[in-house]
Amino acid sequence: MADPLDDLIAAVLAAPKYAAITPNLVRRIGAAELAKGRVLKQAVKATRNKLHQVGGAYLGGKMDYAGWARRLAAGADPAALRAECRAMMQAHASTRERLAFLEDFYAAVFAALGPVDSLLDVACGLNPLALPWMPLPPDARYYAVDIYTNMTAFCDGFRARLGRPGRIWAADVLGDPPDMPVDTALVLKTLPCLEQVDKDAGRTLLRALKARRIVVSFPVASLGGRGKGMAENYAARFAALAAEEGWRAERLSAPGELTYLVMK
Ligand SMILES: C[S@@+](CC[C@H](N)C(=O)[O-])C[C@H]1O[C@@H](n2cnc3c(N)ncnc32)[C@H](O)[C@@H]1O
Repeated sequence: MADPLDDLIAAVLAAPKYAAITPNLVRRIGAAELAKGRVLKQAVKATRNKLHQVGGAYLGGKMDYAGWARRLAAGADPAALRAECRAMMQAHASTRERLAFLEDFYAAVFAALGPVDSLLDVACGLNPLALPWMPLPPDARYYAVDIYTNMTAFCDGFRARLGRPGRIWAADVLGDPPDMPVDTALVLKTLPCLEQVDKDAGRTLLRALKARRIVVSFPVASLGGRGKGMAENYAARFAALAAEEGWRAERLSAPGELTYLVMK
């Protein structure tokens, strides 16, 4: 007999909007929806809605990865390359919000971090395109992961084009957390997104990361632009989580996001 979960995964991935999402995430979310007793059709719809909330909602218009890769491969000088990266970062709502203060954001974060020899960018979106703004030594490794196979392949090509050691790949960071030990992990504006699917996701993810320290940030406005009380709410909840887990969380004065440096 056919397994309804296999049917659900096939149905979800058949839609172009979801086709590039790592099947493991579709499996995890789909299994939870079927476990609620939903019939297949309803479970497919609910899974697609969740995938939209955690991923699709951030993407704007056509993600022309092949065209972008060609533009980045052309022998641009550093200023032209940065301009290209900025233009492409507009296509993901999360990196787009950071563009206004990109330079100052990474200056503040790396001033607090000091030397970093390996960085893991968790649920990175298009943030690997911000590599030119990160003051990393040439031999520092950069790893990054997100749910989209096409986005991460494009970003990995950019990493290689910069000559930066490391790897960028597609995975569900909750079902299959990256297990390489690193000096620092970036978990930027991601915990509220993951908590839409699993309310304990923040704790689970931060516990799983094998990082000496973790930069965690929170948005101060929602995707729709509303922000009343959001920062205070995230700050109170994160302070409670850090206290429960015995983590030291230092507030950083990085612009535009509520940002912490966490030592586990
Ligand atoms: C709010 S955005 C943050 C992106 C990036 N960290 C930044 O600050 O620009 C959340 C990201 O999480 C990714 N994501 C959602 N669920 C995920 C999961 N289970 N595993 C890995 N990435 C996930 C989405 O695709 C999206 O790019």
